[in-house]
Amino acid sequence: MAEGDRDAAAQGGAAGPGRAGAAGPDRAAAGGGGRRRAGAALLGAGLVLAALQFVPVERTNPPVVSEHRSVPAVDSLLRSACYDCHSNETRWPWYARVAPASLLLGRHVREGRGALNFSEWPAWDLEEQELLGRLIVEQLEDDAMPPRTYRLLHPEARLEPAERARIADWFRPAEVLDPLGLPGG
Ligand code: HEC
Repeated sequence: MAEGDRDAAAQGGAAGPGRAGAAGPDRAAAGGGGRRRAGAALLGAGLVLAALQFVPVERTNPPVVSEHRSVPAVDSLLRSACYDCHSNETRWPWYARVAPASLLLGRHVREGRGALNFSEWPAWDLEEQELLGRLIVEQLEDDAMPPRTYRLLHPEARLEPAERARIADWFRPAEVLDPLGLPGG
């Protein structure tokens, strides 16, 4: 009985001063809180950006073993509009060194080379070349390649309809099945 009373008294005593003191300082801090939170968010974003710089991105150009060959008029278009992502001759720009652009670019090149690599073209057998040729024609007719975001930064990769047609004509199956241009082939 006596012990219970003492506990109750202790709790009451502890709660009193705590509650009484809480209102003052809280209200005083509310004014600068928004600015401080914005500052912390900026600092946080800065730290994340800084940390991203250490994520390794492979910016390598493997050797060109066997190159796709076409006529100069087509070759120059492929080089200016497709080779950055679909060959081992990527022109890595300065922003390829700065995250997050470096991460996006690294992925584009990795995936682009995986889908189609003009630096390894002759290594594919004719059936695969024909399939890739069809996909290239399809991408050009849909105006889906090069990707729009890339065109924003690369004016030389913006192809006129006639230029897209010139590349597509080269890759139409008859051309692909007859890569040496043999008469009657
Ligand atoms: C900025 C990088 C980039 C450029 C430049 C680029 N591509 Fe691509 N391309 C990709 C990526 C990434 C993929 C794979 C992912 C996808 O299908 O969207 C791809 C896929 C493809 C494919 C396979 C599509 C499929 O259905 O599997 C073809 C064909 C292709 N590109 C043709 C071209 C041609 C032709 C050009 C030039 C006129 C070109 N690309 C320029 C990034 C690029």
